[in-house]
Amino acid sequence: MNQPLLGVNIDHIATLRNARGVNYPCPIAGALLCEEAGADGITLHLREDRRHIKDADVYAMKPKLKTRMNLEMAVTDEMLAIALDVQPTWVCLVPEKRAELTTEGGLDVANLPNLAKFISTLQSAGILVSLFIDPDIHQIDTAIACRADAIELHTGSYAEADLAGELDKRNDELHRIKTAVQYAKQHSTMLINAGHGLTRDNVAAIAQIDGIHELNIGHALIADAVFMGLDQAVKAMKEAFKN
Ligand code: PXP
Repeated sequence: MNQPLLGVNIDHIATLRNARGVNYPCPIAGALLCEEAGADGITLHLREDRRHIKDADVYAMKPKLKTRMNLEMAVTDEMLAIALDVQPTWVCLVPEKRAELTTEGGLDVANLPNLAKFISTLQSAGILVSLFIDPDIHQIDTAIACRADAIELHTGSYAEADLAGELDKRNDELHRIKTAVQYAKQHSTMLINAGHGLTRDNVAAIAQIDGIHELNIGHALIADAVFMGLDQAVKAMKEAFKN
């Protein structure tokens, strides 16, 4: 079984920078360090309120990355124009609510009438498109119908139950994710990614699901970096995939 790739979400470096309104720590320097430490891709979320990553970060980072940029964004005309201009390798479409602390729940792709057109506009420009969805068969069917290149399964409910020590719920959520991966594998050629709330303690069960291509991890990895440095945090996360 292959080990999944690691995409590091570097939004929190920008959060820390913005807390002081200065120009450090620099998310681009952080992204390059992650790549050197073995990250397979860099994920960043340009939110509509620009609370962490700013437009200038996206534009400045793109030519510097040696791996690939995965730009998370909402399904809006403004974000579409930016993506077409920046040309990231991947766009990951996510839901967005202004008041949320982080991305809560997957994109309800089954109820977004213009989604297929939005996706094909990006794909026509050579950008691969991933959909951040709940591990739900109906959402997977819609992702297939919309010809997405990948899905990213939301692991937040699994991670929350694990953190709260709710073992039955954790196991149910893990089962839901495994069933979703199995279904997507059987019915499509889309890549299957996962992410949200993953930590060194809970990641192995997800990393070891056969068929998972990449895990996108931000908060816990940047938190680890506070204590062990970014280089070690990336390496330790990859190590945690195995056990
Ligand atoms: N994947 C997606 C689509 C996300 O929106 C986020 C959070 O920004 C992550 C992965 C990473 O989640 P976390 O920061 O909890 O590791």
